[in-house]
Parts: sequence; structure tokens; C-alpha cells
Amino acid sequence: EKGTYPHFMLKEIDEQPFVIRKIIQEYQDENDAIKLDADIRKAMKKVDRIYIIAAGTSYHAGLVGKQFLEKLANIPVEVHIASEFSYNMPLLSEKPLFIFISQSGETADSRSVLVKIKELGHTALTVTNVPGSTLSREADHTLHLHAGPEIAVASTKAYTAQIAVLAILAVDTAKAKGIALDFDPLQELGIVASAMESLTDQKEEFEAIAKDMFATTPNAFYIGRGMDYFVVQEASLKLKEISYIQAEGFAGGELKHGTIALIEDGTPVIAISTQENVNYSIRGNVQEVEARGAKACVISLKGLDQDTDSFVLPHVHELLTPLVSVIPMQLLAYYAALHRDCDVDKPRNLAKSVTVE
Ligand code: M6R
Repeated sequence: EKGTYPHFMLKEIDEQPFVIRKIIQEYQDENDAIKLDADIRKAMKKVDRIYIIAAGTSYHAGLVGKQFLEKLANIPVEVHIASEFSYNMPLLSEKPLFIFISQSGETADSRSVLVKIKELGHTALTVTNVPGSTLSREADHTLHLHAGPEIAVASTKAYTAQIAVLAILAVDTAKAKGIALDFDPLQELGIVASAMESLTDQKEEFEAIAKDMFATTPNAFYIGRGMDYFVVQEASLKLKEISYIQAEGFAGGELKHGTIALIEDGTPVIAISTQENVNYSIRGNVQEVEARGAKACVISLKGLDQDTDSFVLPHVHELLTPLVSVIPMQLLAYYAALHRDCDVDKPRNLAKSVTVE
């Protein structure tokens, strides 16, 4: 039920701090250590490469998850769009593990990969919001997102839940492999939950930015580098699916290789800057587009901010910034759709779960 909310999407955006706290609770044991299925731990410990398979927003969460698994657990990871996997099937490693990320657990594109890799005798772990779903039943292992039902077609809380659960999985695997880390995901996620809350409490800010940037524009660009590049891809998907504004999320460094030709007077460009190592260069990209007439809006992390930034995000661990930087992106898309009179929860041509290939 929507309760007092005008749309499920807004309700689900607001639920994110609670979902993160629920995940902390579900994945924490009585000694405040990570609680995870022993079989999953065993399976993760022996793999030499992980193949993440997903679609849409879940694919974008997979791009972030890859960073955790590589940087923390030291396992090489490939992230594949489910519908492309069979055409471009990679050479598999000797001890592969497949992770299927799917809110609904019913996505046909992902299922067809699951069927194929099971035939080949490989192990599958499904990360899903629906434990009884097809992808969960047909995989060897399931990790539950605990996000509660997601009704709006535009996925919001499932994305942040997926990232949180993948962070926990990566750290658990690192520990099982004897890798020493000074990163406690449960504690850091607690900080994230509070940061999320402060963002959902400032909706008017994002409503104003959305009105200013997206009221009448036919197109919009999002730019980011490193971790922020993954979030801008999700940001542009969110905007296009519910507001029908043609949007693109691309790597700041790629601008000069073609896309900058599209920048005209007044073209909206939203930049995210949450990583110290890219702060300087992404700001250079902002200057480049502004010099060509773009209307830029920079959303930065506290500590990396400048006076002219449109919004400063509360500080969280640098690996977990997508969990906070995505919230303004979800709200910008929501308010853009609202201003343009679109059907926020049920955008045209889309279904909540895509059960055809
Ligand atoms: O249920 P799934 O996570 O497998 O769904 C994958 C995509 O269809 C889904 O994320 C879609 O892109 C959303 N509408 C995005 O908001």
C-alpha cells in the first residue's frame, strides 16, 4: 500500500534507509560479525573468477559489486548484460561462479543464462528480493535482499539493497580467504543509512534542481568517472524510463571522443563527484561542457565539494558512495517525471518484471 505517498516510487525511495538497516540486522550475528550461509562462503572461497549476470538496474548494481569483489576479496569479476551473454559467451575460467542479480528473480534473459550454465555444470548464486522466485529456485544458493516488495516499475530500493548485500558478500569472502581488511561493511552501512535519511529529508532541494534542469529539455547528460560512472548510467536509465527524456550516462573522459558534439546552449549536464582520485578531472569535464553552453549541475561528496556545487552529499566510505549518490538521481528522475505529467509508477511500454526474452 502507498499510504500517504502519491506514488510507490517515492515511498520506495524513502524506504531505503530502513532497508539498509534491515540488511545490517539480517546479515549480522550476535558478535556483530557477518552472518552468511556457510555453503555460500565455501563456494565463494574456491572460485577463481566471478561472472555477474543481470539486466537494467540490477546490471548497474553488478558494476559496483564487481569493484567490491575485486578490491576487497581479490577475485576477478566480469559483469555481463544477460541478454548479450550467449552471443558473446566469454572463455570461462577453471573454477567459475555465476552471480545472478535480479530484484524479481523472474527476468527471462537472466534465466536463460542460468539454464545454460547449469547445463555446463557450474555453480550459481542468485541475489534477489524474491527468494521463492525462478532464479532463486534454480540456482544453488540465494542471498536475500530484504528490501520488501518493490512495486514501482523504476527500481530504487532494490538497487541500493543489491549493492549493500554485495559489499557484505565481498567482505565475508575476503575474511574467509584470510585477507585482512580495515573495512567493516556493517558499521559503514549504518553510516550510509543515516546519510540516506538526510537526503530523503531534503526532497525540496532535488525537486527544485529537477524543475530547473528538466522542465522542458528534450535531452540530458550525466557524467562521472570511476565509481561515479556506474551511478550515472543508473541515473540516466532512471530519468529516461519515467520522464521519457532522452538521457545518456557516460564516462567524463569519453566526452572529447564524441559526445561533446551534442552539447548546445542550455543542455543539462549532471556530474557526480564522490571520489578523490577523479574530483579534479571530472571538474575539468564540467568546465569543458560549460564552455560550450551546457547548464551544469555538480553533486559532490562532502570534503570534495566546491562553492558552486548544486548539492553536497554527506560523507560515507568511498566504496559505498553509490548508495548515497544514487538517491538524488532517483529523486531528480521522480520530480522530472512529475513535472512532465508522466505516469511515474507505470511508465509506458514497460513491465515490472520482464519475463520474455
Ligand atoms: O527484476 P530484475 O532485477 O531482474 O529486473 C531487471 C530490469 O528489468 C530492471 O532493473 C529494469 O531495468 C528496471 N525497470 C529499472 O528501473
